[in-house]
Amino acid sequence: MKLLLRSCSVSLWTLLFFSALLKVSGAECNRECDSNETTTTTTTTTTTTTTALTFESNPNCTFSIGNNISENGSITGLTPGASYQIFHNCLNCCIQATTKPEVVLNLTVDEITTSSISVKWIKPEGNGSSYKVRWTDGNMNFRDHVTETNVNISNLTAGVQYDITVTAVADDGRTEGHSAAISQYTKPEVVRNLTVTKITTSSISVKWIKPEGNGSSYKWQMMA
Ligand SMILES: *[C@@H]1O[C@H](CO)[C@@H](O)[C@H](O)[C@H]1NC(C)=O
Ligand SMILES: *[C@@H]1O[C@H](CO)[C@@H](O)[C@H](O)[C@H]1NC(C)=O
Ligand SMILES: *[C@@H]1O[C@H](CO)[C@@H](O)[C@H](O)[C@H]1NC(C)=O
Ligand SMILES: *[C@@H]1O[C@H](CO)[C@@H](O)[C@H](O)[C@H]1NC(C)=O
Ligand SMILES: *[C@@H]1O[C@H](CO)[C@@H](O)[C@H](O)[C@H]1NC(C)=O
Ligand SMILES: *[C@@H]1O[C@H](CO)[C@@H](O)[C@H](O)[C@H]1NC(C)=O
Ligand SMILES: *[C@@H]1O[C@H](CO)[C@@H](O)[C@H](O)[C@H]1NC(C)=O
Ligand SMILES: *[C@@H]1O[C@H](CO)[C@@H](O)[C@H](O)[C@H]1NC(C)=O
Ligand SMILES: *[C@@H]1O[C@H](CO)[C@@H](O)[C@H](O)[C@H]1NC(C)=O
Ligand SMILES: *[C@@H]1O[C@H](CO)[C@@H](O)[C@H](O)[C@H]1NC(C)=O
Repeated sequence: MKLLLRSCSVSLWTLLFFSALLKVSGAECNRECDSNETTTTTTTTTTTTTTALTFESNPNCTFSIGNNISENGSITGLTPGASYQIFHNCLNCCIQATTKPEVVLNLTVDEITTSSISVKWIKPEGNGSSYKVRWTDGNMNFRDHVTETNVNISNLTAGVQYDITVTAVADDGRTEGHSAAISQYTKPEVVRNLTVTKITTSSISVKWIKPEGNGSSYKWQMMA
């Protein structure tokens, strides 16, 4: 039974190889490979970087985009965050694959209030037109998916530190690259019910109520 299976798979390979040889070079994508075909040939995307795609398959197979043909399964010199139809010469069909986007540039805090932090960044080189924004106070995680290069994160607690990350998303709307991160405290609330409790010739006593939200110390200033 095992022997039978093996000889069967060899003849499949011979068949695939000869049909690939018969084909004139110059790849055309007239259909997409279905997942069963790539499973039989054990084709898998092994590594994806911002400018290269690497496939693992029978070493006699090549992958190509137009006239750019893979070497050792890798196609290089690609645009970050872009989706490609990759021609698989042994199967005579195309695989869709997407490079990782670059990291967003110059992530900065634009404005902070007691309940919001607004951040902005610069679009990285390459393709991709949306961003995943994630933030956390250390306990709860939140996220948003935006197309602009800025976001106003609101509904935050006063005086709390938030860790914010922004990740570019590729043209396929799914593939993410590395994140840029920034940490920022919201402004604390103003103290409540500030009152003078005692006045002497040389001293003034005041008291107040801790504001809502977090914040652990107070600054004071006297003006004569
Ligand atoms: C893939 O294989 C499974 C089981 O082997 C089969 O049920 C399914 O119809 C196949 N799909 C295609 C597109 O051939
Ligand atoms: C690749 O091709 C060579 C020569 O055409 C052949 O000898 C070899 O068995 C093939 N390798 C595989 C894994 O099919
Ligand atoms: C392809 O692999 C062979 C053997 O592993 C190696 O000698 C060769 O340099 C590789 N080519 C490229 C372009 O990486
Ligand atoms: C093919 O590769 C060259 C150099 O690596 C690159 O400039 C060109 O954009 C590539 N073409 C495609 C269709 O990816
Ligand atoms: C990058 O995006 C532009 C605009 O959406 C598109 O025209 C172009 O084909 C994309 N580049 C690649 C390599 O997919
Ligand atoms: C982004 O930051 C770099 C260095 O951190 C700076 O040189 C560059 O001018 C900034 N770009 C913009 C558009 O602010
Ligand atoms: C962000 O939203 C808060 C309240 O929702 C508002 O007070 C603040 O002005 C907004 N900041 C920006 C930069 O739009
Ligand atoms: C604000 O955040 C709280 C939890 O921190 C959540 O229960 C509430 O639904 C949020 N409100 C809005 C308008 O997002
Ligand atoms: C703080 O002041 C408000 C109005 O000025 C008052 O209604 C409230 O009871 C005060 N709170 C305390 C704890 O004294
Ligand atoms: C606020 O401070 C309290 C006590 O210091 C701490 O337990 C809590 O986790 C803080 N909340 C946030 C959102 O940082």
